[in-house]
Amino acid sequence: MGAHMEPQTAARPISLSERADELEERMMHELNAKIATKSALFNLADGNREMIGGAVLQAQNPGKYFLMGADPRLPKLPDKPTLLDFLKYRFVSASTNHLLQSATLALKAGHGEKVVLACLLHDIGVAGFIRCDHGYWGAQLIEPYVDEEVSWAVRVHQALRFFPDESVGYKYPDMYLKYFGPDYKPEPYIEEEYKRARKHKHYMTARLICVNDIYSFDPNAVVSVDDFVDIIGRNFRQPKEGLGFDNTPSSHMWRTLNWPTRFL
Ligand SMILES: [Fe+2]
Ligand SMILES: [Fe+2]
Repeated sequence: MGAHMEPQTAARPISLSERADELEERMMHELNAKIATKSALFNLADGNREMIGGAVLQAQNPGKYFLMGADPRLPKLPDKPTLLDFLKYRFVSASTNHLLQSATLALKAGHGEKVVLACLLHDIGVAGFIRCDHGYWGAQLIEPYVDEEVSWAVRVHQALRFFPDESVGYKYPDMYLKYFGPDYKPEPYIEEEYKRARKHKHYMTARLICVNDIYSFDPNAVVSVDDFVDIIGRNFRQPKEGLGFDNTPSSHMWRTLNWPTRFL
């Protein structure tokens, strides 16, 4: 085609119906033409050690490619997602509510901003990722963005919550008796973590997570993330590139939360 045709083609106005067709085509492609995959871990959680290989899966879905980006079933995150975006659009809402209740208690008790932030983030491992060892996962997610006191406290609340501290009126939670039975005893690594934590300079920050934790499951509590926007702003170093795109040791974890069903 002659070069003189190109400007004419490009300049031709696109009609509304053409625009709609184009949009529909794109949406069909995004909604139906991609194969979302479940990782090994999601299969393990169903008690399933098998995973269908890529070739078989594609043969079962003729004409389709694998999803290599955002899952259209989940809310789309902005290109440069913030902690608030993850709180609003990724984390399980019941868990987020629990986090907000914890942080609200800490705020009302007059604790400092680091304690409040630690309470606000203490269970983001559960809220967005995984229950097992959630304190460790949660700490790893936030470590590049918060004061060491905050991430350390989130990490060791994993262990501390199983051990009482009379000095702050913290008993072994009744809820754990109910959930795990009277015979449950934490593994040795949890006990070791507890012993180390007791001697740590930030022990009380982690302990206060536990204190504000056990009362924070009221389904009727009225809480709002708006109460914490300023505290997050002052204490969480939001990367300008967005969480996941800032090349820190936990960026890949935020990307995985963003795109949990990406093929690779
Ligand atoms: Fe927790
Ligand atoms: Fe909690």
